[in-house]
Amino acid sequence: MSHKQVTAGDGVRLSVWVRGVPEGPTVVLVHGYPDNSSLWDGVVTELGRHHRVVTYDVRGAGESDKPRGRGAYRLDQLADDLAAVVDEVQPTGKVHLVAHDWGSIQAWHAVTGDRLRGRIASYTSISGPSLDHAAAWFRDQFARPTPKRLARALRQLLHSYYILLFQLPVLPELMWRTGAMRALMRRLEPDVKAPKTSDGVHGLKLYRANMGPRMARPQPRPAEVPVQVLAPSGDAYVTAPLQAEVQRWVPDLRVRRIIGSHWVACGKPGVVAAAAAELIAYAESGEESRALKRARVGAPARGRFAHRLVVITGAGSGIGRETALAFAAEGADVVVTDVHEETAKETAKMLRDKGSAAGAYTVDSSDGAAMTRFAEQVAREFGVPDIVVNNAGIGLSGSFVDTSVEDWERVVDVNLWGVIHGCRAFLPMMRERAEGGQIVNLSSAAAYLPSTTLGAYGTTKAAVLALSNSLRAELAADGIGVTAICPGLVRTNITETTRFVGVTEAEQRRRQQASTKLYARRNFGPEKVAHDILRAVEKNTAVQPSTPEAKVTYVLSRLTPGLLRAAAKLDATP
Ligand SMILES: NC(=O)c1ccc[n+]([C@@H]2O[C@H](COP(=O)([O-])OP(=O)(O)OC[C@H]3O[C@@H](n4cnc5c(N)ncnc54)[C@H](O)[C@@H]3O)[C@@H](O)[C@H]2O)c1
Repeated sequence: MSHKQVTAGDGVRLSVWVRGVPEGPTVVLVHGYPDNSSLWDGVVTELGRHHRVVTYDVRGAGESDKPRGRGAYRLDQLADDLAAVVDEVQPTGKVHLVAHDWGSIQAWHAVTGDRLRGRIASYTSISGPSLDHAAAWFRDQFARPTPKRLARALRQLLHSYYILLFQLPVLPELMWRTGAMRALMRRLEPDVKAPKTSDGVHGLKLYRANMGPRMARPQPRPAEVPVQVLAPSGDAYVTAPLQAEVQRWVPDLRVRRIIGSHWVACGKPGVVAAAAAELIAYAESGEESRALKRARVGAPARGRFAHRLVVITGAGSGIGRETALAFAAEGADVVVTDVHEETAKETAKMLRDKGSAAGAYTVDSSDGAAMTRFAEQVAREFGVPDIVVNNAGIGLSGSFVDTSVEDWERVVDVNLWGVIHGCRAFLPMMRERAEGGQIVNLSSAAAYLPSTTLGAYGTTKAAVLALSNSLRAELAADGIGVTAICPGLVRTNITETTRFVGVTEAEQRRRQQASTKLYARRNFGPEKVAHDILRAVEKNTAVQPSTPEAKVTYVLSRLTPGLLRAAAKLDATP
């Protein structure tokens, strides 16, 4: 690590640190208010593995000088400070910028100004708009008012209450010096690092020097560099539309919703570093990650699930295969598994023919260790999935007394443990990525329909339904939706492979053929379930019955469960 003093145009000295890999691309990190450069400690550790990382205390913060007059904190001067730092650490060539909060406001000013033209390769902005863009955004909302626009503007104004407070004389300083502000921030923002009184007091001039003039007379400020806006879902100060709706000034724009707070750089430094590294790699080599492609604003739509990665278990046949094809037709990349290598490969070939970057794996969903290895391999070779469909399942039919322990174990292992293993294998990486996602679990109408022949099967499917509902509540804060799909009678291979217990081999064969005929006559194809699955993912539906009989009985199970219990006593042997 090297520590330098850089002197700005007006003589103010700025404390600058350079860390990481000297030969890596140079990244300059600009902190906000009321932070200093230590905000970036976690991000520096991550980015520093492959990049040369520069941080500095902006004027008024940390170890840098703290000029007294508020005029010294104007945006033009702050952008000049950034330029002075860039000139010092990288006299020629380009640097990448990552900035947060007031750091972002300054960096936007620099990116859209003349002083650093041609010197910035990419810009990742977190929770800080250009003040000129923000002023224009507010004007837009009021110039063409609709209830939605007014509500959004009002929401942002409510989130900006502190800006007015900071314009008042004496009171904000008093709140900092008495410790009230620190205590308030600690209570409201668990991710924030302990703010320093000095940083809090001096940084107030940022607000006082800039908010009025910029909001009153915004300038059009276009940006010519690739920009990525990271919009934390739980940002209490900057709402997503304010910082994301800037496309008219930023043609090369991406917006990524990150599950986190305003201080996501402290709370989830790995997420911020990974996102920044992706944009840097894109600017350096032109290689664009799936997440960046997905976040691109204004790109021509390639389907409802363009640039999504979908994993589907048991996709060698039936509902799984059709769901894989439906996602691929809507632009997704799909990875499939099956216990049968051949059928999984067949599905993968069909997917590749549709232009989907498909992988096929032979994995038994009931094998937890195999599912974990599979998930790690997917993450390595394709990335973290956006959607996981736990579809693999088997049928089992017969009375409780005829069902052996082995039969129970097999159906529970595949239908319930398979779903549990799928969730356990993929959820940690989806949560860690912090960009949300969807889990889809194949339950069945048998979950809520009592039956004398599907007791064991229905038990596993009811468990999947219960698990899905609980998981949905647990994962809501991570932006990960959970959907249970409950089909009725669907024409697939399941009738050919369902085990009928308590009967001879010949009778089992007869029943398999009879139910295959029944399902064929019923004639509800798996592609229709696939259609329901895609729609349920888009809408984040909690429970989606599929087929008319599944829908009707779902309602009846709520309204008149006694009727269904009575009907269950009728002989349903095929
Ligand atoms: N077809 C229906 O009427 C119906 C109704 C309700 C629910 N479901 C459920 O839908 C899901 C898909 O069934 P389908 O009708 O498409 O059946 P299917 O038999 O056509 O397809 C199931 C696929 O899962 C695979 N599979 C089985 N065990 C596996 C394991 N341990 N690991 C990995 N793959 C495995 C099979 O090889 C097959 O390719 C199942 O969970 C099933 O219970 C089906």
